[in-house]
Amino acid sequence: PGLNDLARKAGLMYFGTAIDNPSLNNTKYLSIARDAHEFGQVTPANGQKWMYTEPEQGVFSFEMGDAIINPAIASQQIRRCHTTLWHNQLPDWLTSRNWTSPELVSILETHIAAVVGHYKGLCYAWDVVNEAFNEDGTFRSTIWLDTIGPSYIETAFKAVAAADPDAKLYYNDYNLESISNKTRAVGALIRRLQDCGVPNLGVGMQAHLITGMTPSYTDQVANMQAFVDLGVEIAVTELDIRTELPSTPEKEETQAQNYADTVKACVDVQGCVGVTVWDFYDPYSWVPGVFEGEGDATLYRESFERKPAWWAVAEVLDSA
Ligand code: G3I
Repeated sequence: PGLNDLARKAGLMYFGTAIDNPSLNNTKYLSIARDAHEFGQVTPANGQKWMYTEPEQGVFSFEMGDAIINPAIASQQIRRCHTTLWHNQLPDWLTSRNWTSPELVSILETHIAAVVGHYKGLCYAWDVVNEAFNEDGTFRSTIWLDTIGPSYIETAFKAVAAADPDAKLYYNDYNLESISNKTRAVGALIRRLQDCGVPNLGVGMQAHLITGMTPSYTDQVANMQAFVDLGVEIAVTELDIRTELPSTPEKEETQAQNYADTVKACVDVQGCVGVTVWDFYDPYSWVPGVFEGEGDATLYRESFERKPAWWAVAEVLDSA
């Protein structure tokens, strides 16, 4: 059995992975990525982001997103769609001008109607708003906040709900894996969205973690339970655990335990629907490109050998 088979047996809806477009020419990689026994869910790592889906104002392109989503449909893999609103990977036309608040609201609503409309019925969930908070729980200064004010978040959620009423609507962020000012701010946001009638809410914990520095299993369970207690579903949406290079067998054992803790926490909290890794293959991980001297963050080595982390995840799912 693969990880998704084991995850379903453990009561999760899926075990999934992000896939990026450059990997679509690697047949060995794809034989794993598209195997629903291994990954029952797929997220496009980049292809649905704004700079690719609306490269010119009002000109929409779904080529990159479709290249990930359509094969996932064919393989009967659940799709998590990512992301309608972020401060990164925005097109130049959007960031190089000073818009008024009504202009930017209209741009946001037009974008969401087109993109979410294109994928209507195909996405189990949308990461509606990505990374809107600072670590201290204040709103991150972005083109959205600075032009529209905090109501941009509600605007985005309502627009996605209108464009695809069946999709789960996630707030997605990093450093949401243990209770903090940031998780409390997300909780307050969820309550506000509930108060203004936004349905189908979810919280995505990205879980970009560091080997040997992850929150304990107990802290992760307590944090997940606090989100679920708000009455929303949750998921681990971008799990990877990076290591200072060179990696060693000892570091990989620690990493394996760290992976197992996060997956077990999700299994043990009713309302955590699934776990997505942010790619499963080291050569395609975003980590080395951003954190110099770090890597070894995924479940499979360059040789496609499964690492101790793969086996630890399999075991924790199998024994659930
Ligand atoms: O599209 C260009 C291509 O034309 C060019 O040749 C190439 C050369 O470097 O760069 C390509 O753009 C890259 C893009 O990914 C698409 O592959 C960017 O340089 C690169 O910075 C970008 O990185 C992505 C990153 O988001 C951007 O912040 C990663 O692949 C992607 O995995 C990562 O994903 C994010 C989630 O969306 C949100 N949470 C954090 C996570 C990790 O940063």
